Amino acid sequence: MFGRRWREDIDAFIQRDPAARTSIEVIFLYQGFHALACYRLSHYLWSLNWKFSGRLVSQLARILTGIEIHPGAIIGRRFVIDHGMGVVIGETSEIGNDVTLYHDVTLGGTSPAINSSEQVGTKRHPTLGNGVIVGSGAQILGPIIIGDNARVGSNAVVSKDVGAGLTAVGIPARVVLPKNRKDARDFHAYAAMPEGQPDPLLTVIENLREQIRVLNDRIHELEGTQRIKKSSGISSLPKSEIGESRRTQKS
Ligand SMILES: CC(C)(COP(=O)(O)OP(=O)(O)OC[C@H]1O[C@@H](n2cnc3c(N)ncnc32)[C@H](O)[C@@H]1OP(=O)(O)O)[C@@H](O)C(=O)NCCC(=O)NCCS
Repeated sequence: MFGRRWREDIDAFIQRDPAARTSIEVIFLYQGFHALACYRLSHYLWSLNWKFSGRLVSQLARILTGIEIHPGAIIGRRFVIDHGMGVVIGETSEIGNDVTLYHDVTLGGTSPAINSSEQVGTKRHPTLGNGVIVGSGAQILGPIIIGDNARVGSNAVVSKDVGAGLTAVGIPARVVLPKNRKDARDFHAYAAMPEGQPDPLLTVIENLREQIRVLNDRIHELEGTQRIKKSSGISSLPKSEIGESRRTQKS
């Protein structure tokens, strides 16, 4: 089982980095893989309550790879850190399966220097769901949740939850509609926002659809009125009807 875990970690690098060609390359040349191997050891020591040894391994890994993963963090299977330099993963971070991070990503606390002693042992760092991709330079701060298969753009600063399947970009991060999802229904299938947080893009689309439906109904109604008036010998709409029609189109 131990060997299978390593095999799938190595395969994950090959699958997600077009530049990775062989297992030997991953084992010898990928500092993301080295950092992951050291993390597995440091986390094991941490779980045995050998806190200092865990931290020591973690710091040695940081010197060797430029990647700092706190041994208390919880990381799932097939985790890939590509390029890696500058990545910081805080103590109470939780990372699901099949997650990819690029260089300079921080999973950090929002204000670790303020009332530090009160923050000891509390959840201060983000939780990343399965399949999340975080672009280079992104800063994800606080005990927030990035839902399954969500994407965070390069250099984004995220301090609020991101729903499953959504893409968040910019500072402060905002949700954008990815180009490869063709319509609102397609988007809806992935956009499971956390309870109580309606997806703003979907709300706008639904409002526009409702307005189009109201306008269509009104047009059909006016066409019907015009047909009746034509058949009874009245050639044009009364002025009040024309005014009403224009007002509806403007709104
Ligand atoms: C966010 C990301 C994963 C793309 O996600 P996606 O769901 O496929 O989104 P799209 O590419 O369809 O882009 C959707 C919109 O967000 C914008 N966008 C994408 N990434 C952005 C970023 N980092 N910052 C600001 N806007 C961004 C796009 O321009 C597009 O806007 P538009 O509709 O106005 O044109 C990708 O842009 C990204 O940042 N990847 C990280 C790659 C990386 O770190 N590479 C380093 C390798 S060395």
